[in-house]
Amino acid sequence: MGKVTLSLIKADVGSVAGHTRPHPKMMEVAKEVLKDGVKAGTINDFMVARCGDDISLIMTHEKGENNEQVHKLAWDAFSAAAEVAKKFGLYGAGQDLLSDAFSGNIRGLGPGAAEMTFEERPSEPIIALLADKTEPSAFNLPLARIYADPFTTTGLVIDSRMHEGFIFEVVDVKENKRILLKTPEELHDLLAFIGDITRYAIKRIYSKQENIGIAAVVSTEKLSLLAGKYVGKDDPVALIRLQSGLPAAGEVTQPFAFPALVSGWMRGSHWGPWLPSAMDYSNTTFYDGPPRIVALGFQVKDGKLIGIEEEPKVGEHKPVDFFADPAWDKVRHMAMEQAIYIRRHGPFMPAILPPEELEYTTLPQVRSRLADRWEDYEAAQLHSLKEEYKGEHIVHE
Ligand code: 13P
Ligand code: 13P
Ligand code: MG
Ligand code: MG
Repeated sequence: MGKVTLSLIKADVGSVAGHTRPHPKMMEVAKEVLKDGVKAGTINDFMVARCGDDISLIMTHEKGENNEQVHKLAWDAFSAAAEVAKKFGLYGAGQDLLSDAFSGNIRGLGPGAAEMTFEERPSEPIIALLADKTEPSAFNLPLARIYADPFTTTGLVIDSRMHEGFIFEVVDVKENKRILLKTPEELHDLLAFIGDITRYAIKRIYSKQENIGIAAVVSTEKLSLLAGKYVGKDDPVALIRLQSGLPAAGEVTQPFAFPALVSGWMRGSHWGPWLPSAMDYSNTTFYDGPPRIVALGFQVKDGKLIGIEEEPKVGEHKPVDFFADPAWDKVRHMAMEQAIYIRRHGPFMPAILPPEELEYTTLPQVRSRLADRWEDYEAAQLHSLKEEYKGEHIVHE
């Protein structure tokens, strides 16, 4: 087996009753399109998944990243799902398909993509992280914990293949630049950047062991879309390779035991805690949230996928749904307490994002409509003093 590419391409092309979940028929038609893609030899295998209202296509092939045929196939699958959404009059039908036609590459057209190419190991375990109601840099904190915090990943201490650490590729979404930083030696420099989630997002992580290579990749498409204009809110996904010199599955899920606050909840404009959810329970029904994280585990073998299905069959795989485990109930309770707490701030900071980070807002219109009503403060003070004491104390006028 040579190199295999794992492509995870996601989009929101419509949902039932607001931004809750896609209609099952949408997932079904996407699956049919990908099945034809397997028959045509475009991809080897696939899985259709979702988190909240975002559909994820997880595909294997040997065509490398950014491949036009593979991206076109994903585009066709999303277009078919969008047609169903339109027919049923679903909310936001076709919302992430920003163009009428496909042109070369899905990047810049709306959907997000996390793709990685690697030499398949004898056992190649993977976790796909799917998020809803947040943005790519929400992954900064958990990824820093997984790959650079020995109090999360004991493997950094006791596995000689991980002991030297990892290399982080970070993008500056405002300047459209990237930097490679090594941990542990540049850990504090790394944190100086990625703690600012308004500007920096982790794109890739590499093992320092050359024979391992890529460790993780995050979808950051919309971040650099439309030069100069920040359109960062895009429910992100990530692909993570596991074990044998890379973090164990449990080290990858561990950071989600802390319901960190992430941005992008309700109207893309609020902070909220990440709620670890089973895929089938990821419907965002509490104030359009709270932000969700789903973790799906599977194996890649000979360029195909293996889950827990009875008989591995192309396109019919069942992943291990990590957060379906009741062990996560305690975390969900913590997250919901935080969700209810922060919601009580209503439209006040810190529950809502600062004006420049709001996904959409009518504030500029409100500001311009009321612009003339704002008086000079000092003059207004004098004016009201005069009004108040008219004819009595102000005798020198
Ligand atoms: P690996 O060395 O195969 O990654 O196994 C470590 C492990 O998962 C023990 O929990
Ligand atoms: P999505 O980004 O998941 O479509 O949600 C939009 C929103 O603002 C929900 O309140
Ligand atoms: Mg939506
Ligand atoms: Mg969404």
